[in-house]
Amino acid sequence: MTGPVIRPRRLRDTPAMRRLVAETRLHPAELVLPMFVREGVDEPVPIASMPGVVQHTLDSLKPALAEAAEVGIGGVMLFGIPETKDAVGSCATDPDGILNAATRVAVAEVGDALVVQTDLCLDEFTDHGHCGVLDARGGVDNDATLERYREMALVQAEAGSQLLGLSGMMDGQVAAVRDALDSAGRTDVALLAYAAKYASAFYGPFREAVQSSLQGDRRSYQLDSGNRREGLREVELDIAEGADIVMVKPAMSYLDVLADTAAMSEVPVWAYQISGEYAMIVAAAQNGWIDRDAAMLESVLGIRRAGADAVLTYFAVDLARSLR
Ligand code: PBG
Repeated sequence: MTGPVIRPRRLRDTPAMRRLVAETRLHPAELVLPMFVREGVDEPVPIASMPGVVQHTLDSLKPALAEAAEVGIGGVMLFGIPETKDAVGSCATDPDGILNAATRVAVAEVGDALVVQTDLCLDEFTDHGHCGVLDARGGVDNDATLERYREMALVQAEAGSQLLGLSGMMDGQVAAVRDALDSAGRTDVALLAYAAKYASAFYGPFREAVQSSLQGDRRSYQLDSGNRREGLREVELDIAEGADIVMVKPAMSYLDVLADTAAMSEVPVWAYQISGEYAMIVAAAQNGWIDRDAAMLESVLGIRRAGADAVLTYFAVDLARSLR
């Protein structure tokens, strides 16, 4: 007899065999849908650079939430877009501000079925577009920003958010917010730390989504793309400060950081397939260059395979439906 004795193809021969030996599976419950809610518009507004994604009104949010619950995803992450922005992002701490109003709507509509999560960051609310408040020289003032985050956390908790997404990349933000919540008796509210968050070109469409006119860039607080060890250091710090979940973001260009994080973390590890990652796939598919559904599935599966326990993705509802 000639020919190979070892034949891995045996396990790929039929759909039933491939299904049986699959190492990674996707389930709707591990998908989180980011949603945008905009103040001062009567109708949902399409986001041109993210086909299929809209800025919701408080009314249009409701059926979208019902649909998300119906397909069985795990949760939603809410972002607010205020009508007026200022230097300190006042709307963020207004109990009736758009994000907090949207949170109340979401909790009332689907609070039992989905985990309602909120972005805890200032860039959607500031007129300069930075994730914090500025000092006299125009830099982002870390410790003054922590004070704003503490206030935001209490208002978001009061509105009913069950998991706060700390995405600002300020030093000490997890400890500061945990302390603010615990001091107010809100030990029940969980913290999702965007621990290894890199300065990325792939956030591009998000700027349109939240109508941010960022002055400068975020390189003084977000990580440099080439730095793998530094990403792990941020993860370690956030776990030590009390993060309940840590996240790597973006996802697809940082799968090594994700795998490293999954190997060392004692808390759940999530990843965020961000706006530009979504836009790339959708744009190529619209040109007929790739198959949208296959690329959607493969991209999120790859993020799971690298070590993410759950994935924030704008494909969440479509993907959940395709898994049924
Ligand atoms: C910060 C925040 C951003 C995103 C999520 N939270 C923007 C940024 O850091 O520049 C980006 C998400 C995406 O691009 O889909 N509030």
